[in-house]
Amino acid sequence: MNDKVKLNGEKYRIAWLPGDGVGVDVMDATRIVLDKIGLNAEYIHGDIGWEFWCSEGEALPVRTVDLLKSVDAAMFGAITSKPVKAAEAELTAGLKGRGLTYRSPIVRMRQQFDLYNCLRPCKSYPGNPLNFKENIDIVVFRENTEDLYAGVEFNPVPASVAEVLAKESKAFAPFKDLPGDQYALSVKVNTRKGSERIVRAAFEYARKFGRKKVTVVVKANVVRATDGLFLDVAKEVAKEFPEIQMDDANVDAICMWLLKNPYSYEVLVAPNLYGDIISDLCAQMVGGLGFACSGNIGTKLAVFEPSHGSAPKYAGQYKVNPIACILSAKMMLDWLGETEKGTRIEKATAEVIKEGKVRTYDMGGTNTTLEMGEAIAAKL
Ligand code: IPM
Ligand code: MG
Repeated sequence: MNDKVKLNGEKYRIAWLPGDGVGVDVMDATRIVLDKIGLNAEYIHGDIGWEFWCSEGEALPVRTVDLLKSVDAAMFGAITSKPVKAAEAELTAGLKGRGLTYRSPIVRMRQQFDLYNCLRPCKSYPGNPLNFKENIDIVVFRENTEDLYAGVEFNPVPASVAEVLAKESKAFAPFKDLPGDQYALSVKVNTRKGSERIVRAAFEYARKFGRKKVTVVVKANVVRATDGLFLDVAKEVAKEFPEIQMDDANVDAICMWLLKNPYSYEVLVAPNLYGDIISDLCAQMVGGLGFACSGNIGTKLAVFEPSHGSAPKYAGQYKVNPIACILSAKMMLDWLGETEKGTRIEKATAEVIKEGKVRTYDMGGTNTTLEMGEAIAAKL
């Protein structure tokens, strides 16, 4: 973990990126908590989200990228994304037909700033009525920059690409004569470096926090090249951590086992897409996306966000649960080296959950997003 602790009263610079939809609601509640804990920080608003796509053709404007280059960390809410054609249809008149393509800004931030470690702790806090079981405590490490998220995609497929594939891959034979507009290709790219650093992050975490086992999630029996490489690299890294057990599981099977035996798992590490999927599954076991916090962590910058989306139908209603975002702020404090403050936020959150007096609608209550933020702040 990075240690960015400030001395002599210098302020942290935190980029504040609410985005759109309920991102704005949950970030407002999170700010109540951060203000109360008294982090000596300057929160600098950054434009990001759907409205900037529609009006500027750019959901992640250059000015926001520049802001991210100058901060210690960022808090991010959520952003609406739509498929390519639906996105094009919402551009303002002057921007239509210019060949602009929408790509998820969070995925771009992860790639542009090399935020390779997507860290997603999933803990069932006692008394949460939404817990699948009590005492679940699983930490997911998701590779965050490559794999099927690399963005190497073709639709339609250019003839030159098809030619190379026909020459180099026997398995491509059934597809080789298809017209380019009759199929699409998304290339899964996994590097040794990318695989190694995420697996190492998982093992280092296990060592630091006394976890006994790391489970590598792949599908190496079928996806042999890329997942095979991920697994081979994991086995090499594991040798450096003899006190920690390593096992591996196929992504399909682990979806069953996680539900059956959640206590058998402590730390999971996976390539990008499988990590995306299993982290939603783990989140649901500990209360759903309202509790799913996450960090996108690189060496210089880290962006913290609730894993839920923008839920446009609830936008501005101050109805959704801000706990995922508040726990993401806790992760940010830990990453900054402010672990005492981070721990206090987690404790306060756990107390509010346990008491059960203040609950948002997902928890069966009627409290608002901001009331949840205030209740947690009041415990600090
Ligand atoms: C997540 C989300 C994102 C992803 C979407 C919003 C692009 O599902 O952070 O898990 O696929 O990574
Ligand atoms: Mg996801």
